[in-house]
Amino acid sequence: MKLVAPSILAANFNHLGDVIEMLNNSEADLIHCDIMDGVFVPNISFGLPIVEHVHQIARKPLDVHLMIIDPDRYIDDFCKAGASSITVHYEACTHLHRTIQQIHELGIKASVCLNPHTAVALLGDIIEDVDMVLLMSVNPGFGGQKFIENTYRKVGQLKELIIQRNSKALIEVDGGVNLQTGENLYKEGADVLVAGNFVFNSQNPLETIAALKRL
Ligand code: DX5
Ligand code: ZN
Repeated sequence: MKLVAPSILAANFNHLGDVIEMLNNSEADLIHCDIMDGVFVPNISFGLPIVEHVHQIARKPLDVHLMIIDPDRYIDDFCKAGASSITVHYEACTHLHRTIQQIHELGIKASVCLNPHTAVALLGDIIEDVDMVLLMSVNPGFGGQKFIENTYRKVGQLKELIIQRNSKALIEVDGGVNLQTGENLYKEGADVLVAGNFVFNSQNPLETIAALKRL
């Protein structure tokens, strides 16, 4: 599968309505929302009110990436705000299996994210329970960082694990995605590419999204 999820973190929030309308009319498959708490990651982004407003006008599913500690406390709220899928960090969940169940009980998709240093092998006992795995290809917290090359290897390992265990999980990659890294990632077996700066700092975001879809 080749899906594209633009991250609105890199968008101009003075024109958020226009940005969402552009995404509605684009070939984007998902709208990626990066939620940062200033504790799990060294940055604060946006929270529930923005997700609610985006949801009011978005005609694409909201892919909510929680870079927060203790995500269990906010899963209900982000679901009510309009998330179609919620991604929690492996590193932020003491009882990951329970957290995944909690998300599924709300009738939405559940995904787990690995930081660049976290080994794919650690997913062995959860891979059958998740709808998606998000591999960070930068250290989370900021857009516009350089892609970490080791991610390619991790995508390959994850693909192998998914096939071996007959899991339905999609592979999403987040950070430093452009046409070059994107092409390599799809080749390794990625299903969903998140792109922030590459889309929103381009001359023509609509065209850039289309180009990522064509890879
Ligand atoms: C990083 C976020 C990413 C980020 C990607 O912490 O999770 O979604 O916005 O931005 P780019 O595509 O600019 O690297
Ligand atoms: Zn993200």
